[in-house]
Amino acid sequence: MNICVIGAGYVGLITSLAFAKIGNNVICVEKNVKKVDSLNNSIPTIYEENLDELLLECLEKKTISFTNKLEYSVRNSDVVFIAVGTPSLENGEVDMSQVHESINEISKYINKYTIIVNKSTVPVGSQKFVKNLLIKNGVSSDNFDVVSNPEFLREGKALYDFFYGDKIVIGHESQRARNVMNLLYKPFNIPIIFTNPETAELIKYTSNAFLSTKISFINEIANLCNKIGADIDTVALALGLDKRISPEFLRPGIGYGGSCFPKDTLGLISIGQKYDCPFEIVKSAVSVNNKQRVIPVDLLLSEYDDIKNKTITLLGLTFKSGTDDIREAPSLYIIEELLKKGAKINAYDPMVSDEIREMFPNIKYFDNMNESILESECVVICTDWEEFKDLDLDFVKDNMKEAFIIDGRNMLSLDEAKKRNIKYYSIGKGYTN
Ligand code: UGA
Repeated sequence: MNICVIGAGYVGLITSLAFAKIGNNVICVEKNVKKVDSLNNSIPTIYEENLDELLLECLEKKTISFTNKLEYSVRNSDVVFIAVGTPSLENGEVDMSQVHESINEISKYINKYTIIVNKSTVPVGSQKFVKNLLIKNGVSSDNFDVVSNPEFLREGKALYDFFYGDKIVIGHESQRARNVMNLLYKPFNIPIIFTNPETAELIKYTSNAFLSTKISFINEIANLCNKIGADIDTVALALGLDKRISPEFLRPGIGYGGSCFPKDTLGLISIGQKYDCPFEIVKSAVSVNNKQRVIPVDLLLSEYDDIKNKTITLLGLTFKSGTDDIREAPSLYIIEELLKKGAKINAYDPMVSDEIREMFPNIKYFDNMNESILESECVVICTDWEEFKDLDLDFVKDNMKEAFIIDGRNMLSLDEAKKRNIKYYSIGKGYTN
């Protein structure tokens, strides 16, 4: 099929490449000319496992191209995916301005039957909103169908998830649209749930809100574990063996971040407000997460009272391992609090980006884990990068001003820390007295 994808962000780029890989002709339209040039020259604009090889392969086979011009692509496509950003507004509502703008643009060019697919995470009612906007813009209702097709991929594992996901959800109104979407997705061999657009839209928010709640729930249990001497990994293991619960998303830590869970939990709460459904559980998941991500700061303050001029090393800045994304990362909240209290910050992250350097120019960034902890008074592990498991505790003992580790991702062993007389705090796996 001929496919147009609007937006070369995370979802747009992965969607484009996946459909191109299985032999469709894909044009990905992106406003940012720098991104377009970079992608056409086979230089990925995001870090993602196996992305560079696939980009090169599709460019060589000419199944994909990138442009900033919409007209040709829309006029020649069977399906147009809207994969533009839908960030949170300050009141938690979803900012639909980019979707609005894209629909206004494509309205000018639809001159034959085309399926418009909402791929971005959009509030319930967005399929209707897009449909009404197209009609208002003068597009004949015979010439289009609007489908809701939310995305469930994880950053870092995005291509894997696209090809081997658990489910595909298609919210549609007409049989014609259903048939085309079925044909498009059939090669992936993943169960497809066909439903109405409102249900499809709600499934996305429900998934992300439920997973966020699962994390906040295990984090509260982890906090209790530390107080009563229980072990969170064993609690989570036993819990997860119950097939009704599943072992996934029971990893405790200093909270969830990223571009999805924080935004979509607030998005669902805001949808709930509109329909008089208060979503108390999701509100609690958010408030637990807000406290969880600054636990290291609370611990530092209870240890030192005053942390002015103390040097704190953050290991990991990204919101999770396997990505260079820092959006809503707990580290950002920790940095802000520490800077407010006058602490000095060293930071090491294997994927440190210019974005964070610009955001916090007064932090010392290091290219090496060991160098970043020299002469520091506390190490805070914020991200679950594998290499942090290899932190040399003898080196810590010998080279830090005070051997104190707050392990926000449970990467190290309490026993090993105890053996070396290192002050150590985990999330639900105990601490040294
Ligand atoms: C999440 C969902 O997992 C995807 O299904 C969804 O498509 C995506 O949001 C989206 O809406 O676009 P993502 O944000 O990339 O994907 O990352 P996850 O791997 O889900 O992790 C989210 C956060 O939860 C991270 O900060 C991670 O460290 C944290 N987490 C995850 C935990 O603290 N504990 C866990 O057990 C799992």
